[in-house]
Formats: sequence, C-alpha cells, structure tokens
Amino acid sequence: MPRLDARLKLVAAEIRGKIHADIGSDHGHLLAALLSASRIERGIAVENKPQPHQNSSATLERLNAEVRLGDGMDVIEENEIDSLSICGMGGQSIVRILSEHPNRLPQQIVLQPNKAIDSVRQWARDNGYWLTDEKCTGIKRRFEVLVFRRSGSSPDPVYQKLDRAGLDESMGLMFGPWFLLRKDEQLLQRLAEEQRYLQARPNLTETSQARLETIRQLLTSGHFLRR
Ligand SMILES: C[S@@+](CC[C@H](N)C(=O)[O-])C[C@H]1O[C@@H](n2cnc3c(N)ncnc32)[C@H](O)[C@@H]1O
Repeated sequence: MPRLDARLKLVAAEIRGKIHADIGSDHGHLLAALLSASRIERGIAVENKPQPHQNSSATLERLNAEVRLGDGMDVIEENEIDSLSICGMGGQSIVRILSEHPNRLPQQIVLQPNKAIDSVRQWARDNGYWLTDEKCTGIKRRFEVLVFRRSGSSPDPVYQKLDRAGLDESMGLMFGPWFLLRKDEQLLQRLAEEQRYLQARPNLTETSQARLETIRQLLTSGHFLRR
C-alpha cells in the first residue's frame, strides 16, 4: 500500500463519497489509499498522459478502480460520482477542468491547488459551491487543501462571517476565509514573510501589488490580535 505524503493525507481525510474520481491521478496513490482503507467503495482515476495513466493502472490493478485516459471531466458521466479530487495542479488548470462540464460535478469536491488558489475560491463562489473547510500542511512546504460542497444558489455563508469579522471578501478569496477566521498562526507568519519578500522586489506586477496592499491591510487591521 503506497504511503501518502502530508498533502495527500489531508486530502484523503476529507473525502466522503462512495464513488470517488481523482483527476490527474498520476501515481494513483490517493485512490489506492482510499480503497485499501475502505474509505470509498469505487475509484475512478483520470489521466491525460500515457505514462501516468500506466502508473495509475499498475497501482490500482487489484483494487475496485477504473483508470481512464482523457481530459479532466470529459471522461466522467453525469451522476456517476459522489466526490472528486484534483491535486497538485495550478488553480487555473483546476478551474478549467471544473468549468468544462458543470453538470457532471458531484456534491463534494476536494482541491489542492499549488498556485492561483484565489481563482479556485472565486470559481466556487460563482458556481454554487460552499467552501466548508480549509486545511494546510506545515509552513515550510505549505500546501492548502480546500473542501467544497454543492449548495445550490445561496451565497457561501463563510464570506458573511468574514464580513462580520470586519474583513473583505477579497481578503478571503486571496488568503482563505477559514484561515483568516481562525486567525491561523501559520498564515500570519506566511503573510509577514510574503510582505518582506514583495517589499524587497524592485518591480511588482499588478497582482503582486494587490497582494502586498491586501497583506498590509490585514497586518495593520489588528484582526490577528483580537481574540
Ligand atoms: C503534478 S501531477 C499531480 C499528481 C497527483 N494528483 C498528486 O497530487 O500527487 C498532475 C497530474 O495531472 C495530470 N493532468 C494534468 N492535466 C490533466 C487533465 N486535464 N486531465 C487529466 N489529467 C491531467 C498530469 O498528467 C499529471 O500526472
């Protein structure tokens, strides 16, 4: 049984579906761990490249899993799965995959974007998924895991909570509403580090300028000091 790294352990702990699809399965370790622990009944691994497809097939050979070669949700049917994960990709790629076939998305989605995490939160905000939790691995190798549940049309209450705490939605989208509401110590350290890094750079892109300004607002708001 393959051992999961800290990042995929966080993902695995959040999955609640019986039939689970993992897009971009690569080595196939996530589904293997979930099936071996009877956390899911059936797994569907999706890969768009031949070598990772072969690797997933080898890992999942004796388990109740199917490995499909294809692009994201193209190879998943409507109402076929209860939960979905996409891990280790950039936020923009994840959003593209999620946007291709909205009618095929399941009730629960667990995502681990490596970058552009704000675009994933924004996608969920605009597409009827509530962000029900956010988890992260340690500060040195910080990976964020976002857990979403389909909500229908009502707006995500976490952003109302954020508003009541005196913080803007844009801050939540950028740095995570649950991390902010919990006054996450690791997030505070990361913000201070990113501020130092950005301040030391001569020419900032518009995006970096916006992040620096949002960090400044957060660190001077007193939010992290209020208990
Ligand atoms: C960096 S690996 C991450 C592997 C694994 N999910 C993890 O987190 O350890 C990304 C994998 O996603 C696959 N991939 C990228 N875009 C994809 C797409 N549109 N559909 C299916 N697989 C994709 C790549 O071939 C690669 O194996």
